[in-house]
Amino acid sequence: MAKLVVLAVLASLISAVSCQSWTWSIYRSWGYTSPRWGTPWSYNPAPTTWTTPPPPPPSTSNDLLKVGYYAAHNCSNAENIVRAAVETASAGILAGLIRLAFHDCFVRGCDASVLLEGSDTERQGFPNLSLRGFNIIDDAKVALERECPGVVSCADIVAFAARDASYILSSKKINYAVPAGRFDGNVSRANDTLGQNLPPPFADLATLTKMFADKGLDQTDVVVLSGAHTVGISHCPSFSDRVHPPTSPSPNMDPTLAAKLNQTCDTPNNATTTVSQDSETPNALDNQYYKNVLSGKVLFTSDAALNSSETLELVKKYAGSDDWNTAFGAAMVKMGYIGVKSSKEGEIRKKCGVVNKS
Ligand code: HEM
Repeated sequence: MAKLVVLAVLASLISAVSCQSWTWSIYRSWGYTSPRWGTPWSYNPAPTTWTTPPPPPPSTSNDLLKVGYYAAHNCSNAENIVRAAVETASAGILAGLIRLAFHDCFVRGCDASVLLEGSDTERQGFPNLSLRGFNIIDDAKVALERECPGVVSCADIVAFAARDASYILSSKKINYAVPAGRFDGNVSRANDTLGQNLPPPFADLATLTKMFADKGLDQTDVVVLSGAHTVGISHCPSFSDRVHPPTSPSPNMDPTLAAKLNQTCDTPNNATTTVSQDSETPNALDNQYYKNVLSGKVLFTSDAALNSSETLELVKKYAGSDDWNTAFGAAMVKMGYIGVKSSKEGEIRKKCGVVNKS
């Protein structure tokens, strides 16, 4: 009987990944259960979906990473080369590059496992089907291999690119030094993208706080890093539960926005339509996100969850000042320490999509 249950779960996982479409039901097939309106979302990842333990929390010592690492490792132009590649990206791709760093670090650590190509790699995991910006990373890698072959890791390129994208989208207001020296991992599994790693858009505050804590980040980091949802887009199924609920509209979404989204996403499983995360200043990485949290103009349950007593003070602070710019840089640096690999645990890939051995 137990074997039958395991087989049934595995079959549902395989079909969920292989059909690769943006339907809301896929989230549920991965062990998330939806609530009735007015009750919190619950999060029950099925143990069988979890094949590996989460990556270790950030190292307590900063020994592995250094600001200016490549200047001291015969590739002083490394960060300029990445910047030049990022400067060719559109606003949408720039948003994608910021998200790429998050999805890299939260699954097996910041080791570029998110970039590996293959039939069952992280790239094929459901939350990663909408990632973008891979070409920019590849372009930077090609240029870097020309200038200093075998020196700059793909994991560091992802971290630099997220910083550069933030710099451009914030009109130069967000800028931070990126400690570097990461090595690239050799393992990438689609199953790792769900379960205990990447939070779902319908996570409540307790779930978000727990999932960030598992990576060594705190609730302030949840609030600060969620501010990235002031740029980029979302597909309808990621928030359709809030605009096509079974009984009534989501009580904590601005009614005008809810009605507009209800029309734009004509059916709950409309998998092709996308909308801006921030309808006010869609391409500016700014503190508008926090104003939107307060006015109910955010897309996800996880965004709306920040309008709760535990986090409200911080949300108000960022809504009313420019403090978030510096806080965001610092939180990105902190996130960049998650599960960092040393030269003994990783390699410097020649191409970001494939491990060297193959
Ligand atoms: C707190 C938990 C988070 C949840 C539940 C979450 C969820 C999501 C979802 C569902 C999407 C839209 C996917 C789609 O439908 O296309 C999205 C987009 C995005 N997320 Fe998050 N996210 C979280 C945290 C973060 C963090 C920490 C960052 C970066 C620091 C980030 C940056 C972005 C960006 C920039 C986009 C737009 C990407 C694009 O336009 O290509 N998110 N997120």
